[in-house]
Amino acid sequence: MSESNPRPLFIYGTLRALPLLARALTGDASNISAVSKLVQPATIYGYARFSVQHCDYPAVIKHEPQSSVDGYLLILETASQRNKLDDFEGEAYKREPVAVTVFDADGKNEKPKEIVEADVYLWAGDADALTASPWELEYFERERLRDWLDLFEGMELIG
Ligand SMILES: *[C@@H]1O[C@H](CO)[C@@H](O)[C@H](O)[C@H]1NC(C)=O
Repeated sequence: MSESNPRPLFIYGTLRALPLLARALTGDASNISAVSKLVQPATIYGYARFSVQHCDYPAVIKHEPQSSVDGYLLILETASQRNKLDDFEGEAYKREPVAVTVFDADGKNEKPKEIVEADVYLWAGDADALTASPWELEYFERERLRDWLDLFEGMELIG
């Protein structure tokens, strides 16, 4: 892995909210254009996503082969961006390699375009914290995103 070419990431939770991704990567939540060109709709198979008790963010863990998690493949441009996301994810997640199935960016064509080797942040916290209820991006964006952006106001991630 070269310094200037970090491995792509598969993101499936709060970072799929582009204002939050923009805040994490560029320091500016309104800088959507800088991050929207880095993401493509994608899916990983053999994993499942669960809500975490009393938390706004989900957990993804290894699961049955036929289960899947939808998200984005995120192509990072610098090692600094990658470090910022490591910092954002913190101790509750650990990075693991994963094969990501990428779909056409317009979302209309359901045919897989390619398989890309990437990393995913899997849940490394307490297994008891996972709940059976699904995690909804739409709910997070509608009800919680504003608080998250406020929380990150003035906070600098370490790149
Ligand atoms: C948006 O982000 C890019 C990449 O980090 C940066 O070069 C650019 O200056 C940013 N634009 C604004 C308006 O913050």
